[in-house]
Amino acid sequence: MEIKNKTVVITGGAQGLGFAMAIEMAKHGANLALIDMQESVLAEAKTTLETHGVTVRTYVANVAVESDVEAVFNAIQTDFGNVTVLINNAGILRDGMLLKYKDGAISAKMSLQQFQSVIDVNLTGVFLCGREAAVKMVENGQGGVIINMSSVARAGNMGQTNYSAAKAGVVAMTTSWAKELGRYGIRVGAIAPGVIRTSMTDAMKPEAKERLVAMKPVGRLGEAEEIAHTAKYIIENDFFTGRVIEIDGGIRL
Ligand SMILES: NC(=O)c1ccc[n+]([C@@H]2O[C@H](COP(=O)([O-])OP(=O)(O)OC[C@H]3O[C@@H](n4cnc5c(N)ncnc54)[C@H](O)[C@@H]3O)[C@@H](O)[C@H]2O)c1
Repeated sequence: MEIKNKTVVITGGAQGLGFAMAIEMAKHGANLALIDMQESVLAEAKTTLETHGVTVRTYVANVAVESDVEAVFNAIQTDFGNVTVLINNAGILRDGMLLKYKDGAISAKMSLQQFQSVIDVNLTGVFLCGREAAVKMVENGQGGVIINMSSVARAGNMGQTNYSAAKAGVVAMTTSWAKELGRYGIRVGAIAPGVIRTSMTDAMKPEAKERLVAMKPVGRLGEAEEIAHTAKYIIENDFFTGRVIEIDGGIRL
């Protein structure tokens, strides 16, 4: 699919990888609908993206709330007259061990709230946005592309019971949707990034960052533009569906 003049919806598009993908899409002439919870950061993103001469609209919504998601996709359909691509990118981290054991006794457990909050955004949010985007794509009858953000952590990672479970679920949904939606001309792919240099990783302790870099055969963290390049590839390659692209510098958890 050619990107130019298409309507690309990006959740969590105000900053980080979502914003980097928005820039890549704007450079190639896509019109953008950005969904995020941070109103002021969204406004800054819109100003930057508009310098590429494309239409940009922002929508403040929580991807984990069904009524928010339904209302936003109805608004996008009205505003743009189409939904061609969805990049299901919004996500959060609430890391913690399943349990802590000290001096012969359990001292802490991951709370249900800590587990559920990540499932709500990273798995249910992806489900709700994917479902609503697919409804619009099927109704519009012109096909489309859905990209879900997974993670290298989908294989299971220390301190990430909640995040790993959600990111593995995202890959399973990707394959299921590709099988269900192919008949409507909708392709569905996933991206599983390794550790990418963002404000989040910039804030990490230097020793922790060095450890991660040492695990990567390429000897460095990834760049947000490298993830954006991967999203562009999935959109443009019409033979790609139902698979996850690992873009992680060769790291294995
Ligand atoms: N940065 C990495 O190294 C890395 C690695 C693997 C996977 N990922 C995944 O890539 C995606 C983007 O990560 P990032 O590093 O850019 O994160 P980030 O925290 O910089 O950006 C996430 C964006 O999502 C928004 N958001 C969070 N919860 C939301 C909600 N409920 N509703 C709407 N918007 C919400 C935030 O406001 C923020 O703008 C996430 O799904 C993350 O799990 C990131």
